[in-house]
Amino acid sequence: MSVQIDHLLTESRRFAPSPEFAAQATARPELYEDAAADRLKFWADQARDLLHWDTPFTKTLDWTNPPFATWFEDGALNVAYNCLDRHVLAGNGDRVALHWEGEPGDSRSITYAELTAEVKRAANVLIKLGVKAGDRVAIYLPMIPEAVIAMLAVARLGAVHSVIFGGFSAESLRSRIDDANAALVITADGGFRKGKASALKPAVDAALASGDSSVTNVLVVKRTGGDVEWNERDLWWHDELAAAPDEHVAQPFPAENPLFILYTSGTTGKPKGILHTSGGYLTQSAFTHKSVFDLKPETDVYWCTADVGWITGHSYVVYGPLANGATQVLFEGTPDSPHPGRWWEVIEKYKVTTLYTAPTAIRTFMKLGRQIPQEFDLSSLRLLGSVGEPINPEAWMWYREVIGNNLTPVVDTWWQTETGAIMVSALPGITVTKPGSAQVAIPGISIEVLDDDGNAVGGGEGGLLVVSEPWPAMLRGIWGDPERFKETYWDKFGDKYFAGDGARLDEDGDIWLLGRVDDVMNVSGHRLSTAEIESSLVAHPLTAEAAVVGAADETTGQAVVAFVIIKASQEDTASHEDVSAVLRAHVASQIGAIARPRQIFIVNELPKTRSGKIMRRLLRDVAEGREIGDTTTLADTSVMQIISGQVK
Ligand code: WTA
Repeated sequence: MSVQIDHLLTESRRFAPSPEFAAQATARPELYEDAAADRLKFWADQARDLLHWDTPFTKTLDWTNPPFATWFEDGALNVAYNCLDRHVLAGNGDRVALHWEGEPGDSRSITYAELTAEVKRAANVLIKLGVKAGDRVAIYLPMIPEAVIAMLAVARLGAVHSVIFGGFSAESLRSRIDDANAALVITADGGFRKGKASALKPAVDAALASGDSSVTNVLVVKRTGGDVEWNERDLWWHDELAAAPDEHVAQPFPAENPLFILYTSGTTGKPKGILHTSGGYLTQSAFTHKSVFDLKPETDVYWCTADVGWITGHSYVVYGPLANGATQVLFEGTPDSPHPGRWWEVIEKYKVTTLYTAPTAIRTFMKLGRQIPQEFDLSSLRLLGSVGEPINPEAWMWYREVIGNNLTPVVDTWWQTETGAIMVSALPGITVTKPGSAQVAIPGISIEVLDDDGNAVGGGEGGLLVVSEPWPAMLRGIWGDPERFKETYWDKFGDKYFAGDGARLDEDGDIWLLGRVDDVMNVSGHRLSTAEIESSLVAHPLTAEAAVVGAADETTGQAVVAFVIIKASQEDTASHEDVSAVLRAHVASQIGAIARPRQIFIVNELPKTRSGKIMRRLLRDVAEGREIGDTTTLADTSVMQIISGQVK
């Protein structure tokens, strides 16, 4: 970490907002003053300005029982009404909500009036299937408009969605369905990826094959037209929607009504169901979407490239932009198919003004070279955003120069599944930006950098990132596990939230993120747990023991590298190379392709302390080809020499 700190300390480039941008900026500098003067009043004002409340709230925050917060508790609203109906009623029904671009090049533009009608139909279908407020609905869909429609239909009924990323396996799907006791699954026959149809429905069938799940029906969107097996519980989405009325009056629900559960990796093997509720979540996602992305809803075309299976897709594809009445691009597919200029073609086609993506994508484009984006007209772009992992200054500069024509502000946004919405970011038109720094807490958010004992850390030293006051979009808990919620985030610093990230403050008070300090890896901006992959590896009959580390990777940020000891009884079974292929495939089928290790090293020993704890730090040195660090606390100091020999 110290190498990185030294490197970042020398970063001295600064970009002041241009006078033209500053003059038209949506965010005003007074936001900081207002929030500093009265933080709770600031958030109450945002909630009233940005949202429609059926019952106005009188109470802003209740923090009398930390870490369990309530925001706007006695108010009531309907989240879907806020994202849809009210824009139509305000005369903006003809505005495009979604410019959907399918992977094979098919496309569809959907106005707010059309989207509202579709969501009403879908809500009526869900009612017919017995979905009520509080019920959980699992959504396992590709990036098609139906994903957005399904989420909003569930929200409209006060029910709770659990979106599961389409790349997760049947087993991951099943454990999430079980954990939340979902009553219904909404899926598709498949989606398109890299020029090919890739099936989704078989994973749902496999997940439900044992027949003892809580799921009563599966609604199936027809996307690829591929063959599907049909079970009694299955219903076609298009048949059901065609038969449903497009009138549905949204009922208000309390501000603290659960909105969704989203599973994310933690430091143990079992993914956590992060719970978000309605009023506070929608307030902060709408506020940040508007001010961080300088939103001009009448003229902007916004594009967030995240999948709806991740938190970024929830807050900055669905809830933030739609609450603000924005026009956006929804994209199915990958950046490089059918050609490496596909994204830039989409930007040219829709005259995208605002692009929000991840550093891993930017680094991939850097490798391909600037000649590819330069073949397209990107002059519509006026703002660029980054999220998901630390962005190195070189990638930040390339993004600004090559994609942003040396003009556009770049905002690096730090936040998490748990925080629900952006917490740290420059505000365009106000902040003087620094390549590589996420910069400052947004107005109304309190961030500190502390050492292990809770003392403030300054002077460029690395410490732990902490949120010191509750915030509107904060997670309300881990589904079904209040103890784990307390232990994971709150036990360390009392009533302050421990994020799990390292950070430092520079002499201006700007925040530089330094990566995770726990056993969570970040691969292409996706969170993976070392423990989860280890437990998948040891579940295989060949494996005796396994240790997983996140090794630095030029493109993906980190890569999964595993060290595996084969059971003595299995040693003859296969050559080492085969074993590694078998185990990589095993992890992909158990968890999902995103978790497949880049490399698996077969070793005879793992480095352990005298108390038996695996020293991952040393394995990371091996995986990154570095000289091995201090081994004096190992039970057997010769182990690392043996391992290095075996890895070479
Ligand atoms: C990392 C994604 C540095 C961080 C929104 C965090 C970042 C984890 C940034 C959350 C950033 C996210 N700079 N690191 N701008 N944004 N991270 O839950 O380690 O998928 O804890 O949420 O990603 O990942 P998650």
